[in-house]
Amino acid sequence: MKTKLKNLMILFSLALIIVAGLANTGNAQKTKQNNMRKSETVRTFAEDVHSYSNPQAVKVRHVDLDWNVLFDKKVLQGTATLSVERTSNEQNAPLILDTRDLNIEKIETSNNNAKFTPTKFSVGAADKILGAPLTVELPANAKFVRIYYSTSPNASGLQWLAPEQTAGKKTPFMFSQAQAIHARSFIPLQDSPQVRVTYTARVRTPKNLLAVMSAEGNSQTSARNGDYKFKMPHAIPAYLIAIAVGDLQFRALGKRTGVYTEPSMIEKSAFELADTEKMVVETEKIYGAYRWGRYDLLVLPPSFPFGGMENPMLTFATPTILAGDRSLVSLVAHELAHSWSGNLVTNATWRDFWLNEGFTTYLERRIIEAVYGKPRREMEATLGRRSLEDELKGFEARDQILHVELKGRDPDDGFTGVPYEKGALFLRHLEETVGREKFDKFVRGYFDAHAFQSITTETFVAYLQKNLLNQNPNLIALTDVEEWIYKAGLPKNAPVPQSDAFAKVEAQSQNWLGGKLAAKDIKTQTWTTQEWLHFLTNLPQNLSAEKMAELDKAFNLTTRGNSEIAFQWLLMSIKNNYTAANPRLEEFLTSIGRRKFVKPLFEELAKTPEGTKRANAIYTKARPGYHPITVSSIDAILKRQAND
Ligand code: BES
Ligand code: ZN
Repeated sequence: MKTKLKNLMILFSLALIIVAGLANTGNAQKTKQNNMRKSETVRTFAEDVHSYSNPQAVKVRHVDLDWNVLFDKKVLQGTATLSVERTSNEQNAPLILDTRDLNIEKIETSNNNAKFTPTKFSVGAADKILGAPLTVELPANAKFVRIYYSTSPNASGLQWLAPEQTAGKKTPFMFSQAQAIHARSFIPLQDSPQVRVTYTARVRTPKNLLAVMSAEGNSQTSARNGDYKFKMPHAIPAYLIAIAVGDLQFRALGKRTGVYTEPSMIEKSAFELADTEKMVVETEKIYGAYRWGRYDLLVLPPSFPFGGMENPMLTFATPTILAGDRSLVSLVAHELAHSWSGNLVTNATWRDFWLNEGFTTYLERRIIEAVYGKPRREMEATLGRRSLEDELKGFEARDQILHVELKGRDPDDGFTGVPYEKGALFLRHLEETVGREKFDKFVRGYFDAHAFQSITTETFVAYLQKNLLNQNPNLIALTDVEEWIYKAGLPKNAPVPQSDAFAKVEAQSQNWLGGKLAAKDIKTQTWTTQEWLHFLTNLPQNLSAEKMAELDKAFNLTTRGNSEIAFQWLLMSIKNNYTAANPRLEEFLTSIGRRKFVKPLFEELAKTPEGTKRANAIYTKARPGYHPITVSSIDAILKRQAND
């Protein structure tokens, strides 16, 4: 009898452990301590300095949105109904949410999602970076919290475009960009990447427009009624919730891939993105099944502040990747790769951002190799390493570390080449050390073991130690790994990608610089975009007026349509005071709002008094068309006030 009871108790506690594990979609952060005491089932969360929320006491599990998209007021107005769960014994703990510039009208709670009763709430003082905490009184048995609210017209996570700012020029457009901490500017929620939620949404728009979201339910037909429903059945972090509304059309690319964009852009987009399905197939071969159903892309108007954003099921992309020759599609490989690294296994806090972007940049290059071959991969990896080295030269030690300290800082400050390129080099170093076969198996196992979880760097290191280092004790030591993750600079053993094509470019470049070869005689006929970029970025910082003019005459660089090439050339033009490119620079800066391009150009201009004058004149024209994220970067460079 005694042993039976004991067995029963063991069974019971096992069941508890399993239930706790299953319920734990927000992922228990296995801190160092927890790793040592594996049997513990206590749910802990990592410290997230960028969220006010309290998932360790009350956790949001599902978000149900009901929105009216009001273009005339530039607001989303409606309700967010949050399904909540108590995660501690503290029966009177309130629910604490993140918000920024939201107008909260009233809040109700319910036990059954049917009968709602009003509850008290308070909005705390607003912090410039974090926004304001919203504290909601929660009856002990409340399961649902409904917030009636509207966004502000200058919500940091939304951009409202007038018809003139779109390709079609006839109808307005709105899109969201939530990463890193902008979801709180359009949804009151627990805006920490370790809190995962499923979501549903009903979105009402003007009848002639289509709404799309990072979820199931995106329409592939041209039928529109201004009333759209969506569902994301997998638990995702808040920064992956996304919406866009505009005059959108769909075109299939493959059986589970397609593209949305404005009608006048659909042809060009479908041509450029034609390899998307193939990329999905190749990625699955290495890293296991694509778990999200469809993979579609949305090509946005040019003010989109990023190159791409990995919103699940629907990558958002800048139109500046439409080069006409598919040469910039590594961006698609990158955002697709996030379907494994980032969306399936997510950084628990923004300190761990390198887990998202380093893995993704590594995967991106593997996809490029699988689809376009090793020489292309090596060219892109060389460009990546080179730009990292340049960047590191100007960084203080604390910003050269993968596991970056961001306390008191905007998480956007962590958006540098370090998490991307240093992270990717670290993983390539591991691959080259243990061999590709072993490493691929390890990475695939890592994705499977942490699928739909958010993890810290410490959890990754513990997993790495157990599943790779311990198996290969003669090859890599933990101290080696720790140097990569916790120390500044690039370790001596960092891989150096090799490109024969680039070596040829360099040889010709040297001959031209040494006066042995005229620019027009450089053999550029077969150069790809990557070779052009290597040629330009490898030239000395200072070139004479004659040399600049010679290059331009030979290769028409000022009128290039390829955004990456144009950007490099314009940057060189500012540095070398090549005034013939002035009109093109103004055109570029007033028609494109991608931060990666416009920020360095304004920074370069701002280095001289005359440049600053030009920058200000251009910015006055460009600013109304820029996204809030780009505006805040350029305002800082040109020292403008937020409401100038
Ligand atoms: N997730 C990022 C974009 C991002 C990061 C937005 C941090 C906000 C905060 C996305 O996957 C990305 O890395 N995009 C790159 C392009 C990529 C090919 C390197 C970009 O937008 O430049
Ligand atoms: Zn990325």
